[in-house]
Amino acid sequence: MLDTPSQSAEDVRLQSFGVTYEYPVVFTRDAFALGNRCLVDALSRREPRKRHKCLICVDEGVLASLPDLASQIENYAAAHTGSIDLVGLVPVRGGEICKNDPKTIPNLLEILSQRAIDRHSFVIAVGGGAVLDAVGYASTIFHRGVRHIRFPTTVLAQDDSGVGVKNAVNLFGLKNLIGTFAPPWAIINDSAFVDVLPPREKRAGMAEAVKVALIRDGKFFEWLEAHSDALARFSRPHLDHLIKGSAELHMRQIRLGGDPFEMGSARPLDFGHWSAHKLEQLTKNQLNHGEAVAIGIALDTRYSVLSGRLAAGEDDRVVDLLRRLGFDLWHDKLRQCDSRGMPVVLKGLADFQEHLGGELTITLLAEVGRGVEVHEMDERIVRNCIDWLEQRA
Ligand SMILES: NC(=O)c1ccc[n+]([C@@H]2O[C@H](COP(=O)([O-])OP(=O)(O)OC[C@H]3O[C@@H](n4cnc5c(N)ncnc54)[C@H](O)[C@@H]3O)[C@@H](O)[C@H]2O)c1
Ligand SMILES: [Zn+2]
Repeated sequence: MLDTPSQSAEDVRLQSFGVTYEYPVVFTRDAFALGNRCLVDALSRREPRKRHKCLICVDEGVLASLPDLASQIENYAAAHTGSIDLVGLVPVRGGEICKNDPKTIPNLLEILSQRAIDRHSFVIAVGGGAVLDAVGYASTIFHRGVRHIRFPTTVLAQDDSGVGVKNAVNLFGLKNLIGTFAPPWAIINDSAFVDVLPPREKRAGMAEAVKVALIRDGKFFEWLEAHSDALARFSRPHLDHLIKGSAELHMRQIRLGGDPFEMGSARPLDFGHWSAHKLEQLTKNQLNHGEAVAIGIALDTRYSVLSGRLAAGEDDRVVDLLRRLGFDLWHDKLRQCDSRGMPVVLKGLADFQEHLGGELTITLLAEVGRGVEVHEMDERIVRNCIDWLEQRA
């Protein structure tokens, strides 16, 4: 006989389960050469004998630099027809414009629907961080998430954004306002894409390597310093080392940092980013992400010294490296003030806090190679840092 249910007791059952994510991050060259098996192996990782439906979205900037790429991809699919069923090759406008344009996501979703992409199909994105973010977002909301593979084509996307788990587009003038945390199926970094990247974009990606070295790995920072001349010339082996070193540090943070989906108040990899995001917005993307991050790193390193956390002189060292890599560490928008005379860039702190909610959490430096979290920033010190940068410009 069943007991009579209690009328008053609350019935709370704790549901709990974990999901393990695993995905390969591959470094290769000429991924669409017929003999290169990286893509086929990635597609077939779980179902080796299946023919996989694939839709490939390619950054228009990459297509313009590599006019043969579309036919190479088609030839590759034809040569591996046992594994690849290519249902379309879609050009996507490259750069921040694709994240700003409100039509990008509806257009992509319409194409995914027209090509009957299902939860076993693959959406493959080939492009810079912006195209990867937008295509990744569309694929992770379509059918509540279809498999997506990334081919990052810029230094920044290969050494930082492409190896992560975030996808997003901008909305209401706010960067990355809508997006998802969704690990990809695989990431294939092809160094041949970086060869055809304009110098400005090559340099921009180096800022993220400097950033992650500063907060996580002093030895890597010293390596960057020792090889800054070769890096400034974009020497291929040096650029390869920078990309792999930075990608590994970003991957380690996601794997071991304890908060891969950023549920807490901290954004540990976003050193230098509170002002960088604001500067990108204030300059209407005249400064690209990496260029804005370089300025943000300089500001927050100086702040670390002025607030007594970092040894004097380390700020000069960081600024010297960024300069030797070719970064310009000043933009007049740093001087723009609101009606109360407050630098507008300071609003970046509130935006940064709003993005995650909770307590303001900013990463500063305790030493080169070790970041430290703080929960308040003194506006007067930030102004001093801006003055310092301007004097050195
Ligand atoms: N998801 C994340 O975790 C994360 C992290 C950091 C940055 N991001 C985002 O990444 C974006 C910046 O990405 P980016 O620096 O890679 O630049 P980008 O995607 O804006 O591309 C810059 C330009 O280079 C072109 N391009 C790309 N690859 C090329 C190639 N191989 N040859 C010639 N032209 C090429 C593009 O068409 C574009 O015009 C920002 O939107 C930023 O917010 C995302
Ligand atoms: Zn960044």
